[in-house]
Amino acid sequence: MSRTPHDSALVNRTLQNDRLMRVMRGESVETPPIWLMRQAGRYLPEYREIRSQFKDFMSLCRSSDATTELACQPLRRFDLDAAIVFSDILTIADSLDLGLSFLPGRGPVIANPLTSPGDVAALPFSECLPKLEYVFTAVRSLRAALGNRLPIIGFTGSPWTQACYMIEGSSQAHFHQAKAFAYTHPVAMGELIERLSEISAEYLYQQYCAGADILFVIDTWGCVLSDTLFSMYSAEALTMIGAMLQKRGVQAPILFYGKSLTQKRIDGLKACPLLRGIGLDWTVDIGSLQKSNPGMVFQGNIDPILLHAGPEATQQHTFNLLNQVDIHQGYIASCGHGILPQTPLESVHALIDTVKNHANLTSQQ
Ligand code: CP3
Repeated sequence: MSRTPHDSALVNRTLQNDRLMRVMRGESVETPPIWLMRQAGRYLPEYREIRSQFKDFMSLCRSSDATTELACQPLRRFDLDAAIVFSDILTIADSLDLGLSFLPGRGPVIANPLTSPGDVAALPFSECLPKLEYVFTAVRSLRAALGNRLPIIGFTGSPWTQACYMIEGSSQAHFHQAKAFAYTHPVAMGELIERLSEISAEYLYQQYCAGADILFVIDTWGCVLSDTLFSMYSAEALTMIGAMLQKRGVQAPILFYGKSLTQKRIDGLKACPLLRGIGLDWTVDIGSLQKSNPGMVFQGNIDPILLHAGPEATQQHTFNLLNQVDIHQGYIASCGHGILPQTPLESVHALIDTVKNHANLTSQQ
């Protein structure tokens, strides 16, 4: 049985490390919190060891012993300020019986992608939530393992990003079929985004009740949309999710991630209740976005490819970035996308050390 936030003594819990929560509340901190998108993953040898024990990726996601261990692995190695639940943005697509599998070297593949408005109408949304219980179990198990040490980030793919995979059937550079579907069948696309917004809100709500402190909406593919479609499928869908969560009494802040975000797009996102933070990729000017959006916390902006250049380059570029950011307005240090499998561990150490020591180093200058 799922809990409500009111049943949960864990809501408003006192965390031993609350740096990230303080920043999300708008408090000023000397040292920015740091966590990394995909901090649990293939760049860690201990991840590859556990992964080799499971024949497919979704079986791994369904084992709460494995997901808890994987979420804790990066915390043992690095001084990080948050844990992220180990799961994927395609769990909802999986629960809708589209035939999801992860093939070595190809990533996610959907056997029965959506090709017509009839396919959208036939999706079994009313039956999918119980099939996602393993994700809420993963959050509860991670909370039990961490106690009150660190905040937990729960997440979902944005409705548009989930729709991209559900229509396209695999990872693509431009998601042409998903966009063509939107232009050809706008009513069915509107329906799909609305249903995905409802289920994603419920999915985040259940993660919140299970112990998540921050709710992260990952809109990796909003960047392929025109401004008009971004406003409908990314910004309005996020606002719908925020409104549903707020109506149910959720107090956790929402963090949104998008690529190539502009001021116009950020203005559209700001209608979302509970939105406190925006994750940026490395292509945008974080300093000017901070100035134009007082009160908004920004995350990221570090290019994950920088880490491939080794610890010295990582230290130097990260130091320069920190000098351009207004840390007191609220900055969460992170890469502008997930850490890649080939990332050297020494670079991750260099990144984290630079963030942790920046305040000391600048006060000595
Ligand atoms: O620490 C964490 O962040 C772990 C949890 C996590 C995973 N995926 C685990 C994972 C999170 C937050 C994600 C997000 C995710 N998944 C996104 C959004 C962020 C982004 O990278 O754009 C997307 C688009 C996916 C979909 C997905 N899942 C793809 C495209 C792939 C294969 C290729 C790739 O980029 O890794 C996955 C598989 C996946 N999800 C792996 C992991 C650790 C690797 C699977 C394996 O080990 O075989």
